[in-house]
Amino acid sequence: MSKTIYFIANWKMNGNFHSITEIENVNNFLRKNVFSKLKKIIFCPPSNLLVSFTKKIKAKLIDFGAQDISKIDFSHGPYTGQLSAKMIKDSGANYVIIGHSEKRLLDEDYKTIKKKISIAIKNKLKVIFCIGENLSQKNKNLSFKTLKNQITNSLDKKIDFNNLIIAYEPIWSIGTGIIPSNNYLDQIYQNLKKFLNEKYKVKYPVLIYGGSVTTDNVAILAKNSLISGFLIGGASLRSKSLIKIIKNYFK
Ligand code: 13P
Repeated sequence: MSKTIYFIANWKMNGNFHSITEIENVNNFLRKNVFSKLKKIIFCPPSNLLVSFTKKIKAKLIDFGAQDISKIDFSHGPYTGQLSAKMIKDSGANYVIIGHSEKRLLDEDYKTIKKKISIAIKNKLKVIFCIGENLSQKNKNLSFKTLKNQITNSLDKKIDFNNLIIAYEPIWSIGTGIIPSNNYLDQIYQNLKKFLNEKYKVKYPVLIYGGSVTTDNVAILAKNSLISGFLIGGASLRSKSLIKIIKNYFK
């Protein structure tokens, strides 16, 4: 069965108005290249750039996402500093990242994450939900237990998995250049699949990987058939490396 492979660019706090050329380059590449498997490229720039980017880029294989929405469940109102899910949707995004470890570290607890996920879906934004263990949890053999906790504390039992991508991002891998071994990943994804099936009755959850994905290691990661794509930080900022990642995946 041919499945969609996601390449999601998380620009974090990077980029400016001129960075649109990076997206245009990727778009030109996609127009000229046909791969056997379906793929979807989602750019998640900082929210201040969303409107101008989505207005300019109208491409079948490129979509846009935000890196956050407000936990306030109103479309507008007296909430200084907040951007509602509706505002994000209106700016042309169809996705939002929720639960990223960098955001959890700042101000996102389980209650907030759960609330944001439900608000996002209500506003027709698909959620890229991030989970991942830190190094000390990994060293204590608590990786899967941590992921299970993160999932059960954040996802409603009745959540519609058509609106959800789960990104496994081990914290010890983000920005470090270290990726887990294929054995380790195999175990994690098998367990995740089994757990999600048992608890949420979902047969084909979309599971992706994030953490130090580069042009060099993507081919190794591609060997794992349970991984349906990647959430890419640093290596997604330049079109040259993002294009190479896509190319190397399909090689
Ligand atoms: P890096 O690819 O820079 O390690 O970042 C991964 C990440 O946090 C994506 O959300």
